Amino acid sequence: MTQWTAARLRGLFLEFMQEKGHTIIPSASVIPQGNVNVLFTIAGMYPLIPYLTGKAHPSGTRLADAQKCVRTVDIESVGDASHLTFFEMLGNWSLGDYFKKEAINWSWEFLTGDKWLGIDPNRLAFSVFQGDENAPRDEEAANLWREMGVTEDRLFFLPKQYNWWSTGGPGPCGPDTEMFYINTDKEPCGPDCTPACDCGRYLEIWNDVFMQYNLREDGILEPLAAQNVDTGMGLERTACVLMGKQSVYETDAFTDIIKKIESLSGKVYGSDENTTRSMRIIADHLRTACMILGDERGVTPSNTDQGYILRRLIRRAIRHGMKIGLPDVAAVAIAGVVTAQYEQSYPELKARERFIAEQLRLEEERFQRTLKTGMREFEKLSAKMTDEKVIDGANAFRLFDTYGFPIEMTVEMAQEKGLSVDTEGFQLCYERHRELSHSGAAQKFKGGLADASEATAKLHTATHLLHAALREVLGDEVAQKGSNITEERLRFDFSFSRKMTVDEITHVQTRVNEAVQARVPILISEMSVPQAKALGALGLFEGKYGDMVKVYTMGGFSKEICGGPHAGNTGDLGQFIIQKEESSSAGVRRIKAVLK
Ligand code: ALA
Repeated sequence: MTQWTAARLRGLFLEFMQEKGHTIIPSASVIPQGNVNVLFTIAGMYPLIPYLTGKAHPSGTRLADAQKCVRTVDIESVGDASHLTFFEMLGNWSLGDYFKKEAINWSWEFLTGDKWLGIDPNRLAFSVFQGDENAPRDEEAANLWREMGVTEDRLFFLPKQYNWWSTGGPGPCGPDTEMFYINTDKEPCGPDCTPACDCGRYLEIWNDVFMQYNLREDGILEPLAAQNVDTGMGLERTACVLMGKQSVYETDAFTDIIKKIESLSGKVYGSDENTTRSMRIIADHLRTACMILGDERGVTPSNTDQGYILRRLIRRAIRHGMKIGLPDVAAVAIAGVVTAQYEQSYPELKARERFIAEQLRLEEERFQRTLKTGMREFEKLSAKMTDEKVIDGANAFRLFDTYGFPIEMTVEMAQEKGLSVDTEGFQLCYERHRELSHSGAAQKFKGGLADASEATAKLHTATHLLHAALREVLGDEVAQKGSNITEERLRFDFSFSRKMTVDEITHVQTRVNEAVQARVPILISEMSVPQAKALGALGLFEGKYGDMVKVYTMGGFSKEICGGPHAGNTGDLGQFIIQKEESSSAGVRRIKAVLK
């Protein structure tokens, strides 16, 4: 039997869809275009939103592609067996052409057909939408699976947070049916084990969305003029299942990249947990960095938006490179492997190879300079310590929070001086900081708001706009630390390492007033935490998987998880004036502002 590879899966999918009358379109940019509230293309459907809502696509009504996707909300989890920040999504679309019957028949044929994936039908399970007050139970989809011979024990009716796809805000949406590979190495985790329980028995490989509704700006669900299909299959994840590997990093999507890291570092993947983790982080982050740098929309490392994510990916890869002994500029050599691997599917990478190398090199140099500053601060700190032998958690955290100095470096340098670091204390500060920056939503409608009056609600809305404007002007270093809002004024605390300049204050104030002048309606949508995360909404992400949260969207200006209350339209606020910018505590600034 021919060996499975990610490339073979990609090729077969596109060939299959072509046989079924689809036009194969090239991947769109990983940087989305138009008025979408995501920093990166997070699913194959994003570039197609205009066509899913009625615009005619030049390539017809049946389309298929492999789309480059970047999702960085789970960046901290990268290093385990399955998380990736870049992946390819295989998808097929019907733009008012075929609907459930064909979509499901073809999914079945591709998954089980001998000519295609040839998966044993007994190893597949399916979930369909169980229905709610707005949309009916999807018996039609269930019956189509039953017609294929799927038995009831492998057919699951699940609620909205699992079997409904939307972009998170207004736009095309609908019930979906998901396909799972049953991992028989894992016994059912209990009598209620379903694909929703996340225990590892059911691995999602494909999702068929039936986009038959439009979520209006006022929150009402209305049938779409045309019924569409939007499907998505994660290439690396499905390849991993087909290859029978335990980790996506052991598939051919990563073989050459990891080999290069091994030869440059002299270490062996799998030899110990830390080495394996670092190698996965380096491989994943540099692959994603190449895809972002190699994109035709040309993003470079910076302190805002996509550039900031790119910076974080590169720096984290370099830091893990230091841990396993990668030489300087190894990133450039690894990027060469990524480019060679993807040049056929994504020729733009080859075309921009020199640009990719140059940007990686420059960012590495900048990072080295940051590290030098951190080291200087460390020296100042350790010089002050005479009898003391332990660097306390708060100081270690200050180095990390204010100077971006990695805690591992603090520990290493402390050791060299015969000192130790209170890493538990550091962890406590870190957790507290996370809690503070994540508790914005809870605070805002409990502690943060003096009352629920109209004037307070308007200032609360202004706080969201201020938060977004600060991040836009000062970068993602800004995170909310607290707020206090009365009928007269707002007070907003946020992390930032220095005093803002007059220009920056003016710029932030202008941005908020632009949002007021734009008179955008403030929309509330309820969604699952993963959806809110995927959309890049700011705020509290600590809820249980499956919890529904409210996301307040203010046009393209702000998107934040929150409990309200808010004004109905940004135009209701009046003129926004920043009265004061001052220090609140170490690394935290405070703004006082009013509405006139
Ligand atoms: N848009 C659907 C998804 O990303 C297919 O799962």
